[in-house]
Amino acid sequence: MKYGHFDDNRREYVITNPRTPWPWINYLGNEDFFSLISNTGGGYSFYKDAKFRRITRYRYNNVPMDSGGKYFYINDGASVWSPGWKPCKTELDSYECRHGMNYTSIKGVKNGVEAEALYFVPLKTWAEVQKLTLRNTTNEVKTLKIFSFVEWCLWNAATDMENFQRNFSTGEVEIEDSVIYHKTEYKERRDHFAYYSVNEPMQGFDTDRETFFGLYNGFDEPQTVLEGAPRNSEAHGWSPIASHYVEVTLQPGESKDLVYVLGYVENAQDEKWESKNIINKTKAKATIARFDTVEKVDDALAELKSYWDNLLNVFTVKTSEEKLDRMVNIWNQYQCMITFCFSRSASFFESGIGRGMGFRDSNQDLVGFVHQIPERARERIIDIASTQFPDGGCYHQYQPLTKKGNNEIGQGFNDDPMWLILGTTAYIKESGDFTILDEPVPFDNEAGSEVSLFHHLTVSFDHVVNNLGPHGLPLSGRADWNDCLNLNCFSNDPNESFQTTENKSEGSQAQSLMIAGLFVVYGRDYVELCEVIGKTDEAVRAQKHIDAMVEAIKLNGWDGEWFLRAYDYFGNKVGSNENEEGKIFIESNGWCTMAGIGLEEGMVAKALDSVKERLDCEHGIVLNNPAFTKYYIEYGEISSYPPGYKENAGIFCHNNPWIMIGETVQGRGDRAWEYFRKICPSYTEEISDLHKVEPYVYAQMIAGKDAFKPGEAKNSWLTGTAAWNYYAITQYILGIQPTYKGLRIEPCIAPEWKGFAVTRKFRGATYLIEVKNPNGAMKGVASLTVDGKAIEGNIIPLMPEGRTYKVEVLM
Ligand code: BGC
Ligand code: NOJ
Repeated sequence: MKYGHFDDNRREYVITNPRTPWPWINYLGNEDFFSLISNTGGGYSFYKDAKFRRITRYRYNNVPMDSGGKYFYINDGASVWSPGWKPCKTELDSYECRHGMNYTSIKGVKNGVEAEALYFVPLKTWAEVQKLTLRNTTNEVKTLKIFSFVEWCLWNAATDMENFQRNFSTGEVEIEDSVIYHKTEYKERRDHFAYYSVNEPMQGFDTDRETFFGLYNGFDEPQTVLEGAPRNSEAHGWSPIASHYVEVTLQPGESKDLVYVLGYVENAQDEKWESKNIINKTKAKATIARFDTVEKVDDALAELKSYWDNLLNVFTVKTSEEKLDRMVNIWNQYQCMITFCFSRSASFFESGIGRGMGFRDSNQDLVGFVHQIPERARERIIDIASTQFPDGGCYHQYQPLTKKGNNEIGQGFNDDPMWLILGTTAYIKESGDFTILDEPVPFDNEAGSEVSLFHHLTVSFDHVVNNLGPHGLPLSGRADWNDCLNLNCFSNDPNESFQTTENKSEGSQAQSLMIAGLFVVYGRDYVELCEVIGKTDEAVRAQKHIDAMVEAIKLNGWDGEWFLRAYDYFGNKVGSNENEEGKIFIESNGWCTMAGIGLEEGMVAKALDSVKERLDCEHGIVLNNPAFTKYYIEYGEISSYPPGYKENAGIFCHNNPWIMIGETVQGRGDRAWEYFRKICPSYTEEISDLHKVEPYVYAQMIAGKDAFKPGEAKNSWLTGTAAWNYYAITQYILGIQPTYKGLRIEPCIAPEWKGFAVTRKFRGATYLIEVKNPNGAMKGVASLTVDGKAIEGNIIPLMPEGRTYKVEVLM
């Protein structure tokens, strides 16, 4: 069952039934000021850091789901309703929510009145702008009482939920003209406040929550709104809110727009005050003035749209598959940008107070957005590398506000360092900017410790080389990519986190075939980079380690039908036919086949066939099989999950693309395409009721074949799945790969595809690439021409900038 449809021309998903099986959300803002918004107006805002600068309050995991947001209440004399159906839940005559690129509009119709709320964060603006359009479609005069609503959060989202003995006494507001200012703690250590304005004289307001709702009422029945009369309450402590009251009279056919601005301001110490206890509102007023007319708001929205046009025009594809095109051209790229902005911090599954930016996560995210905003990718790479240690190890996470490594989780995840090579080489291949390698980058953000970024790549590579186990394979440390395969943990205390508990690595034999494959893939990237920049000796040195790793994998990492997953603490095999449960895993088979290990000997084909036979199911490829049915203390968190969920045999969408890419190494485009389609949200839109989460973005996990409810997805939006699927489809299936020397064209497609066309902006030139496949091939370029001239091989050499080139490819 579907709850809406795609509108590709407008790059929107249109939800027509507000009762989606889970709140279907969107993100506003892409630089400093951010909001999350659901299809019924739920959600919250923050400045840069969802934990330390939470502007409006949100209650996760509440009853009912998704309570609290940016609401408009309308009392039309006959009913009280909201354009987004919630929170009033008054039955609407019609409802439509359009989620677009960084904007959302929600329209409700009731008793002949249309109310459309548009929400977006204008570019370079520390505020969310809301335009409420009211239209009278009847032949009578309508008088509408409009109440806006937001609830202020007391800045630190964690203490906001904890420390009520203090919180209930700190709240302070100011009300001036039509603006409500939230200035809790501004008097002492904070240099920031928030505000909420409307561009009409308000006829009343409320800032005290209890007064607005009445003590025993919920969001669905605020007493003031039901009575149609604000109380002009001023909050002193307790829970400050902001609600403007505006009366609107509409003649038949008439419409009216109200503009609301929800903003954030920082003032320097000596500019904090206008007079004693009266805050300096200059910056707030300036922002409000930028959006005080509908024309200004519409211009700002148009600017935002053209910003997205530019971003999305770097890579566009036209195939015979509409569902594929809309993912590659719109939604998958959009999701990649969102994961760039938020890493794993704030979604409807991540509360914004848990994790910072992940070292491995942020590097992987890069391959999804580097072509759109290379300058910001550059900055990100330096930030990430600055949290590394001199031995190549690195903090597993860092905080976006301080950019410092997170001590609580610390280091010891031994796959982390290698991802820096992926992130950096992806950036250089895209941009051609080798100067980044000479950039001085500190260790652990310690001033004075700077070495070149290239040196960081060397210590990353050597971190694996210097941490090999008895089988010549990489020691896994606390965990590799799979955070939940905790081979050195032995935890039997329910009060400790598997992620931070003691890591008993002393004397451990725990080695990872996932890191082994990863090392071969990105080690080769490192070697290639060394060669390109003339560090030949280093290339030779590194290549020897890679050759040794390939041999170690063949010797100690092959189980007969597939690649082993690991050795445990005691040196026992993990992911072997010898095991009772967890005989085969996806990660090692993904990485070792991507690395092409044993391709000639048939190991790649055999491993992939085993994956097909044992891990594939209707909804995608599960992580391991058979699922663990009991707790294995020597494996850790993975076996804590019920079968079929998360890392215990869930369909982890993040690593399905590893198998897709593995299949392209073997040249089996049909298989790669089949796997791609299975987990691609636009292809599963029809089963939205089962799938539950948004059909326009990937979820981290779909419940696997062993689960109670296979096919049910969780944890949408902030997942490495976005970047990896984008990377797999664009670079390995469509096969348009940026390289140091130019664009390589290496498609690996389903034989029934007759061809496809890609427009790719690359290093200042535009390439119109037409791939033809008249003979039903799956892989292999027979000929390639640029503006009619034949090219040897399959790399389009770098062409002069500023021009458009026609590329014809025959498979
Ligand atoms: C989750 C992982 C996650 C880790 C770190 C675990 O509980 O299962 O998916 O990566 O926590 O937050
Ligand atoms: C989510 C984490 O963010 C990511 O770093 C990890 O690789 C996966 N979970 C798998 O455990």
